[in-house]
Amino acid sequence: MTHNFDRIVPRQNTHSYKWDQSKKLFGNADILPLWVADMDFESPPAIKKALQDRAAQGIYGYTIRPESYLSAITSWFERRHKWQIDPAWITDSPGIVTSLSLAVELFSEPGSSVIIQSPVYYPFYDVIRMNDRQIAINPLLQNNGRFEIDFDHLEALMRDGAKLMLFCNPHNPGGRVWEHAELQRLGELSLQYNVLIISDEIHCDLTFPGHPFIPFASLSEELAQNSLTLLAPSKTFNLPGLQSSIVVTPNKELKRKLDYRLKTLSLHMTNYFVPDAIQAAYNDSDLWLDELLVYLRGNLTYALEFIAKEIPQIKAMTPEGTYLLWMDCSELKLDVAELKKLMFQKAEVAFSEGSVFGTEGIGYLRINFACPRSILEEALQRFSRAVREE
Ligand SMILES: Cc1ncc(COP(=O)(O)O)c(C=O)c1O
Repeated sequence: MTHNFDRIVPRQNTHSYKWDQSKKLFGNADILPLWVADMDFESPPAIKKALQDRAAQGIYGYTIRPESYLSAITSWFERRHKWQIDPAWITDSPGIVTSLSLAVELFSEPGSSVIIQSPVYYPFYDVIRMNDRQIAINPLLQNNGRFEIDFDHLEALMRDGAKLMLFCNPHNPGGRVWEHAELQRLGELSLQYNVLIISDEIHCDLTFPGHPFIPFASLSEELAQNSLTLLAPSKTFNLPGLQSSIVVTPNKELKRKLDYRLKTLSLHMTNYFVPDAIQAAYNDSDLWLDELLVYLRGNLTYALEFIAKEIPQIKAMTPEGTYLLWMDCSELKLDVAELKKLMFQKAEVAFSEGSVFGTEGIGYLRINFACPRSILEEALQRFSRAVREE
């Protein structure tokens, strides 16, 4: 490996959302944080260099997106995902959650139902509720420890009148990378019932062998016209603090409305650092990503084996993508408050507590395993010790 993912990069006192809030959020400053989805690895060297060069320029003025920024994006998706994006389909947005929220605001009626599949990344709930829409939940089914879509229930929700769906692929927290047949069926239903699909594909580059990622919009021209795809380099290259993402759609009318709203809110300008960082990411960081995926798989194997051996009462779901491990802790027979106490006070680790992903997440925890192996080992040891002492 060219890159050393074992290296510990101290993140305390760096204004880190993950590392500098333990006392405030969990009442314990000594916690090892493996919750919010950013990685404890340095970004690829090409990005660090691009940002250093950009910072060295010293004048931080209003910034344009050069053509080379758009071509870096389109060539990445063609190279890595065999998906041809026309640069004219791209809108910049400060964040995926911003885009999710704008999609709800622009493409559904106040009071109407918006479909999500639970358990799911918690802002999916927020953007529906905070825009005064109703949440229509299609709970995911579990089959042999793997999430599957309940298409009958989904169809019922569509038949009942929901016209918008927020879809997560790969799925957070379960790590499913939805397969062609599943996407196809979802696509057919969306066309049959005229439901617009907002496909959050932020984790698209983080998949494991045997689970190729398929962009929803790549299935057909019709589905591309009936969807917005939300993409970002932030998970892939550990850049969430740069606040950069894109929305892709060939549907001119949807794009026009989105562009207009972003301009209304003056969210259409780019950050000074973003174009250079994104070009370095998408042009010069393939090798880093390939090595990261090998390292993440090693972490995953380690975690799954450790849990099976040391804490067999906990059942972890094997993710097909993402760096998130969803664990069923219901056999511990602890309620939400007790699970939190076990993590934050007894074990001194912070995983994400499952109920925030929906009622289906009660009794679950989610581990972010994108950290040096030694941190993962320490966290799992602390946790298993605390479970044994329960
Ligand atoms: C599925 C999903 N969507 C969106 C985000 C956050 O995106 P952003 O920071 O661009 O709003 C995350 C972060 O964990 C995520 O897992």
